[in-house]
Amino acid sequence: MNPDNHTAECLELMQTLIEYRQAKALYHRLRKAAAVSMLGIDALIMIHYFARQCEGDILEIGSFLGGSTIAAGLGVRDSGRKKKIISVEPGGRLKDHHLASKDIFKDLKKNLARADLLDSVTLINGRSFEPATIEAVRGAATPGGIGLFIFDADDNVRRDLDCYGDRLANRSWIVIDDYFSESDKGGPTRAQVDELVAAGKLVTLGFYGWGTWIGRWLA
Ligand SMILES: C[S@@+](CC[C@H](N)C(=O)[O-])C[C@H]1O[C@@H](n2cnc3c(N)ncnc32)[C@H](O)[C@@H]1O
Repeated sequence: MNPDNHTAECLELMQTLIEYRQAKALYHRLRKAAAVSMLGIDALIMIHYFARQCEGDILEIGSFLGGSTIAAGLGVRDSGRKKKIISVEPGGRLKDHHLASKDIFKDLKKNLARADLLDSVTLINGRSFEPATIEAVRGAATPGGIGLFIFDADDNVRRDLDCYGDRLANRSWIVIDDYFSESDKGGPTRAQVDELVAAGKLVTLGFYGWGTWIGRWLA
């Protein structure tokens, strides 16, 4: 990528973030999504922006209670265009956390329904690497058809990029959480992202929220 264009794009994203913060009604809607999200509000803003702007569909791995899924759904709605949102979540329960849930998948559906987005999201109940999930995702996503890939799951983003990379459009936007993280996911995630950047598969555009990496995929 031309260094001048790269710097211009990074600055444009920083400016976009400030504009979102000043757009009171939209910012309020995203703060509501943040209330059920493990991601920082600035990362949700970027997801909304990418979902609104991107060409093609959206693939998310790790929806949890739907905070990031709602941000993407609102972005697609605000784009006024039809884009598929495919979101993968195995469900289960989470204890001892302010977002504790006895049934993550049930609460995910409830939150999407509250945001009037349940019908706009293709939910896949499974882990990204399970054969049934792979079949479902590959059936729903066309080759090169994904314009935004969001990964906020475990510590192995490379596994899913290896598996679904052929579905990603060249220069599609990528959001990967836990680049900076005190959890066990932090180290491996950062090492994998850095390797993919060094190999010319990912281009870094910045870091937002609590430790979310954002950038582009080069096919
Ligand atoms: C940090 S949370 C996601 C947070 C969510 N993006 C948000 O906005 O709050 C991680 C989620 O990823 C899910 N997960 C973990 N490994 C996964 C995998 N291999 N495939 C799909 N989901 C996975 C977990 O069940 C959990 O709900």
